[in-house]
Amino acid sequence: MRRALSLAARGIGQVSPGPLVGCVIVSSDSEVVGEGFYIYQEVKHAETIALEQAGAKSKGATAYVTLEPHAHEGRTPPCTEALIKAGIARVVAPIEDPNPLVSGKGFARLREAGVKVQTGLLEPEAARQNEAYIHSMKRARPFVHLKLASSLDGKIATRKGDSRWITGEESRARVHELRHKYDAILVGAGTASADNPLLTDRSGKARRRALVRVVLDAELTLSPSSHLAATAKEFPLLIFTSESASESQSIVLEKLGAEVFRDAGGGRNLERVLQELGRRSIQSVLVEGGANVAGAFLDAGLVDKVSFFVAPIIIGGRDAPTAIKGTGAEKIADAIKLQDVEIRERGRDVEITGYPLRDEG
Ligand SMILES: NC(=O)c1ccc[n+]([C@@H]2O[C@H](COP(=O)([O-])OP(=O)(O)OC[C@H]3O[C@@H](n4cnc5c(N)ncnc54)[C@H](OP(=O)(O)O)[C@@H]3O)[C@@H](O)[C@H]2O)c1
Repeated sequence: MRRALSLAARGIGQVSPGPLVGCVIVSSDSEVVGEGFYIYQEVKHAETIALEQAGAKSKGATAYVTLEPHAHEGRTPPCTEALIKAGIARVVAPIEDPNPLVSGKGFARLREAGVKVQTGLLEPEAARQNEAYIHSMKRARPFVHLKLASSLDGKIATRKGDSRWITGEESRARVHELRHKYDAILVGAGTASADNPLLTDRSGKARRRALVRVVLDAELTLSPSSHLAATAKEFPLLIFTSESASESQSIVLEKLGAEVFRDAGGGRNLERVLQELGRRSIQSVLVEGGANVAGAFLDAGLVDKVSFFVAPIIIGGRDAPTAIKGTGAEKIADAIKLQDVEIRERGRDVEITGYPLRDEG
């Protein structure tokens, strides 16, 4: 299963809006006879690729698949039927596919055909690997990952607005790895103007769909000479703005290739923003700030994962912005608590990642 998970990971950046899936077929005499992983463009599912490799050796073999095989007619015929036809004796798959078209039905079909089914093996790892897919299927909105870089004293810029670079090279390289996993990257108008960022995926790895750059800009203040606007023909740029924003500014930005979307309260209605992104088959969004946008997402309970890159520097200054604005908690007891926290060293910095605990009631 570990091998199947690492095969599945080769699809990162190339499967959305589908799931990451890896498959390893092990013959009855314990030989690996087939391996495969899913890439959207290649259409074929991981199981089919592995079965083709295994050929006649599939008979009586075990298929380790990282996600429940599908039992319906989609872009490909059902994988359950291919597994049954090939004579697979046992399917080991850690988790159900949350897609309502598939969920539970794949396992049921296999059992009905006499194939042994074992679930739960490396379940946490498998669920983590497909967290964006699972989330977007279950909640019908994109998975939101908030990423910020701060100093030891929680500042994200100096009192003069200088923010480059708080963290070191290792952290910044890691951010490009993160961007590679996401379908969209989102910032507020404040960050777009203060930092003039490019917001592209510079991981150097292939991706199926371009990373959609999203700016929440109610007043439509984004400068046509900004890196974001100037590269809009090359890398998609979607700006949420208000009905009342300047028409002439909008025309200039559109001519440069940006899409100006006059809805969602100019970006103030974050539920609507996410709904609109979901409508565009965007499965996951990396929110990269700034402090107001980060605070608004947290206040609205719309953050699913958090990564802070903390650098061992102290910026100080009462006017230097802290990482999160918005309303925040009144009491420590009300502070957002993270679960499944992971702490990693990134050069001299520390990356802290976790999942905000939710009252699911
Ligand atoms: N270290 C880091 O990781 C990091 C990351 C990003 C930014 N920064 C720094 O953070 C600073 C910028 O932060 P900021 O707080 O001023 O700007 P911001 O959060 O990027 O943008 C805030 C602006 O976005 C617009 N907006 C639209 N929808 C919104 C919503 N739902 N919630 C909140 N704002 C919304 C508002 O302007 P309109 O009313 O005009 O729409 C608002 O003034 C800069 O100094 C930058 O260098 C640091």
